[in-house]
Amino acid sequence: MHCAEGPVPLAAVEAVRAFLDKELHPWRFSVEEWMDMPRRVRHGAARLLGCHPGDVSLTSSTSAALTTVARTLPWRDGDEVLAPLGEYPSNAWPWKALEARGVTFREVPLWSGHRAGAAAWESAPPPVGVDPERALLAALGPRTRVLTASWVRFQDGLVLDLPRLAQGCAARGVELVVDGIQGVGTLPLALQGVAALATGVHKGLLSPQGAAFLYTRPDFRSRLEPAGSWLSVEEAMSPTRPATDLSRAWLATGERLETGGPGPLTMSGLEVSLDLLAGVGPDAVAAHVQACQTRLLAQVEDTPAWAREAGRLCAHLGHGRLGSILAFHHGDKGAAWLNGVVRRGVERGVYLTVREGYLRVAFHGWHTDDDVDRVAALLQEA
Ligand SMILES: Cc1ncc(COP(=O)(O)O)c(C=O)c1O
Repeated sequence: MHCAEGPVPLAAVEAVRAFLDKELHPWRFSVEEWMDMPRRVRHGAARLLGCHPGDVSLTSSTSAALTTVARTLPWRDGDEVLAPLGEYPSNAWPWKALEARGVTFREVPLWSGHRAGAAAWESAPPPVGVDPERALLAALGPRTRVLTASWVRFQDGLVLDLPRLAQGCAARGVELVVDGIQGVGTLPLALQGVAALATGVHKGLLSPQGAAFLYTRPDFRSRLEPAGSWLSVEEAMSPTRPATDLSRAWLATGERLETGGPGPLTMSGLEVSLDLLAGVGPDAVAAHVQACQTRLLAQVEDTPAWAREAGRLCAHLGHGRLGSILAFHHGDKGAAWLNGVVRRGVERGVYLTVREGYLRVAFHGWHTDDDVDRVAALLQEA
């Protein structure tokens, strides 16, 4: 269930504990220990995202990262932001909040029978052969300035093809902004052409809550108005230049957009988790997750309650349409039925989650065949 919240590796927990112990005697910290931490975390993030450390801003949540983009982009009255129907609300409200500035937020259904909001449980699941990129690019209008979308969708688990979207957007002068939290750490990422990508660290990145990364493409970032933090200017920590000297230039790097990043306690664990994941690499994690998914689907393909969904998910898997969330649609069984499966899972030490009509099974790099078989046994019982 790392798609809800990922467990923090023991080594990262120990790093947080060690940091907290030092807080009893803060005079024992060297200045370098404090000051160098954001730099190291930016480097760790850049390694995983496949970008330059200067393109990373540190912030506190996916929402904070997306709000930063929405608030600092200079808008014109009548501009439009387009999004797939049923984005996680952290990628809807920052744009909805721009209505007061004359900006419209428009949602696009991605397949026939796609529903969200109050009708989410009546939605048809994404069919085999679904083409969400085509639906989105076809919906771009003359006033569209930004297309924003989740890389991996939180409820149905569909993966969007970011390079294809970025290319289609570039051809129309539209910027692509991505909520990456359900993919980063478990899928290889291609940022080419993406204007901005936001990701919290507490899911696939297996880190403590309270931190997030915002990637921005340099030319896009230069158009965003600086947020105004004292650390967003040149020589902010200079030992010789007075901090009260306000004749400074804004930084061109990601720090330009920071309003205060994660606290050092969170970063002390984050650093370790990032190192651990970068050592394995998203390609290896993705391949392992796919093997777990294939094994699970093979075990439930003949189970009446899941057969149809197993077939649909298997086909999506074959088309590269799934990330680490296997989202089994309820059909017409309803919420109580899915929640019953979750409850029985908890009794057996199997943790699954339900969102908007789907039962979500999320494998990560540490899961074993035995774990997969325990999930299969639970589903076969239902
Ligand atoms: C797609 C997506 N975006 C964002 C979030 C969380 O956002 P935040 O980091 O602001 O809590 C979630 C959490 O479930 C999510 O699934």
